[in-house]
Amino acid sequence: MPKVLIIHGPNLDLLGEREVDIYGKTTIDDINKALKTAAKEEGLDITIVQSNHEGEIVDIIGKSKARYDGLLINPAAYTHTSVAIRDAISASSIPAVEVHLSNIYAREDFRHTSLTAPVCKGQVSGFGLNSYILGLRAAASLIKSK
Ligand code: DQA
Repeated sequence: MPKVLIIHGPNLDLLGEREVDIYGKTTIDDINKALKTAAKEEGLDITIVQSNHEGEIVDIIGKSKARYDGLLINPAAYTHTSVAIRDAISASSIPAVEVHLSNIYAREDFRHTSLTAPVCKGQVSGFGLNSYILGLRAAASLIKSK
């Protein structure tokens, strides 16, 4: 079964109580549950991690090279700042899909730039929990067409 690594970046552990007007009441557990259901439908074996630490995310991606067939990542605030995570994704050469709950292009100017998206196959932004599900299905289709 193809393996997909799913990474939730900083502050996503606070979903449900954090800036509810932007992110809604969906919790990380709700997202993970929906991802597990979608993974079953797609025939994917998923591993889910959440980290608030840039270096830890870099380490996790670095160790993933030969272990995963796909990467689904919401780098959260690091999307806009982290050359290190961008380089880790690029170096891993794992096909990656970037997701965001909110539409980052409809928010503050500093969120309009993603340093990580150019080293991903594509990006899904603005559909709440569904961004993750659409992103996982995109990763499944990339893996199947390999
Ligand atoms: C986010 C968007 C980022 O700009 C923000 O820093 C986040 C969450 C999203 O999922 O909408 O933490 O990645």
